[in-house]
Amino acid sequence: TWTTGNVIEEQVEAIRELVGDKRAICGLSGGVDSAVAAALVQKAIGSQLTCVYVDHGLMRKGETEQVEKDFVAATGVQLKVVDAEERFLKALAGVSDPEEKRKIIGREFIRVFEQAQAEIIADEGPAVEFLVQGTLYPDVVESGGGTGTANIKSHHNVGGLPEDLEFKLIEPLRKLFKDEVRMVGQELGLPEEIVQRQPFPGPGLGIRIVGEVTKERLDLLREADAIAREELTAAGLDRDIWQCPVVLLADVRSVGVQGDGRTYGHPIVLRPVSSEDAMTADWSRLPYDVLAKISTRITNEVRDVNRVVLDVTSKPPGTIEWE
Ligand code: XMP
Repeated sequence: TWTTGNVIEEQVEAIRELVGDKRAICGLSGGVDSAVAAALVQKAIGSQLTCVYVDHGLMRKGETEQVEKDFVAATGVQLKVVDAEERFLKALAGVSDPEEKRKIIGREFIRVFEQAQAEIIADEGPAVEFLVQGTLYPDVVESGGGTGTANIKSHHNVGGLPEDLEFKLIEPLRKLFKDEVRMVGQELGLPEEIVQRQPFPGPGLGIRIVGEVTKERLDLLREADAIAREELTAAGLDRDIWQCPVVLLADVRSVGVQGDGRTYGHPIVLRPVSSEDAMTADWSRLPYDVLAKISTRITNEVRDVNRVVLDVTSKPPGTIEWE
């Protein structure tokens, strides 16, 4: 019979046997899948695992702290955090095109991750032979199967390392669906905020600012996003919605009035959606009083924002994200 206890026990056993006395690396994104995969492998091989978290400065409020503090406290995992905010902001300076932004963020991410990887490999200790990935069953099906032992190649030149680094993959979640992964995470004692987290794109807030990404705009969007999340949670709506992107239209300004003066500020878009798998989605019919509260708070508390608008487009034709 399927129980989370059985799954954990089985995987721990298998991972121990596979890894032996070698070492493994795991990238943490802040998302559910990589966190649960890392926690499982940590349980199996302890300090033979090192996790890497690249802080690209595009996370939402409190998310980096969740990984750095809460996740580490819950698992005891060995974590290397790379603060790469400046590097990402520099690479993104002057760029407004969505695809261009995605490319830059992806490219920088790989470079920073591989640098961290190289440093770990260079540390004293047994050979690093394994890379942990939070691949789920639906991902396996989508990509047409595979055996789980495929080697992945690391193409980028990192000082002093062979050009093609090959790792064996550990994918402890490849038989599980999302809800099962959450159950396993819960059983492993991971914080609720991580286990129940809604989907969040890898490029983070970088693709939720329509226009150029700057530190100032990120801080502003982080505040608005935190307010929306707080109110949705307070209203008990987290499980009713799939996710709710909060988008800053940084290149748009509109006239408003606040206090005794005219304002000329930016709109914030709320994009709450319901969905089964993100392939299609519908806009969530949120209660008006919740929307009113979010709107009032954002316009009162976030500097330079004088309007909150609601996206009432299904997918298709709209995508869930704006970029
Ligand atoms: P769209 O905007 O295409 O999004 O309707 C579908 C789902 O995918 C998420 N998303 C991403 N996730 N890296 C990710 O890991 C990405 O680059 C990315 N882009 C979109 C989005 O949040 C939604 O859940």
